[in-house]
Amino acid sequence: MKGGLRGAVAFAAALVVLLTACAGSSKVQTLVPGVLRVGSSLDFKPFEYFQAQPGRAKVLKGFDVELVQDMANRLDLYVRWVDSDFATIFNSLASNNLDMVAAATTITPTREQTVNFSNPYFLANQSLTVNVGKTPDITSTDNLGAGDIVAVQNGSTGASWAQENLVPQGVQLKRFNLTTDMFTELDAGTVTGVIDDEPASRAVVADMPNLKVVQVIDTGEHYGFAVSKSNGDLLRAANSALDQIMADGTYAKIFTRFFPGQEVPAQFQG
Ligand code: ARG
Repeated sequence: MKGGLRGAVAFAAALVVLLTACAGSSKVQTLVPGVLRVGSSLDFKPFEYFQAQPGRAKVLKGFDVELVQDMANRLDLYVRWVDSDFATIFNSLASNNLDMVAAATTITPTREQTVNFSNPYFLANQSLTVNVGKTPDITSTDNLGAGDIVAVQNGSTGASWAQENLVPQGVQLKRFNLTTDMFTELDAGTVTGVIDDEPASRAVVADMPNLKVVQVIDTGEHYGFAVSKSNGDLLRAANSALDQIMADGTYAKIFTRFFPGQEVPAQFQG
């Protein structure tokens, strides 16, 4: 009995040593060794979102979620998702509360002053979504003016676009922290439209019959994973993992799962 207990203690100790070794075995340095702390705004189907499961805990899903998981596997890192406020997410990364941001984030010159971006991994445009039950006549942003309220996510490229293009024509903007709330309000009729990334809006309207994407706004945005400027090694490692993911067909497999029927853009095929 005593021997058995001693054996169990020794085994447990060995296990701790082994697990510690595994956790620290990655060659890439992160804030907590072996862990990739990834900030995101987990409100953005099909890129990062929670899926409810009857009788079970909701699960985190999405295109970004799978790409990051695959990237982390290749770098021997354990992923820890940190649900964050989108408007402050780049500052949070720059002040080293996070190792990476994976939130369908567009690479922009302004953001590049604060953080580094990986090579592009997705292309997207903006879009206008309206409530066709309440405003069947609105088919483009040209139909919007004084008296109209348009919902945008605080800190997003959609918010900047709307500020530049819609505010001058008299439209009022309503800023939200969560994109999901914008569509709930559009459904209720308290806002006239939503400006948001086209693929995300299309995913939402698929489950909301009153809502429709009526206009694609050609902004030609490239998504990149953001990394702190103080971790150049992680940026290089992330880019080389991303190269492999595109080259060996993993990217195409994940893309097809979240965007069925769409062709994988040539630039993301190995
Ligand atoms: N692509 C847009 C941007 O970078 C929107 C991203 C929103 N992401 C999210 N997870 N809510 O500003």
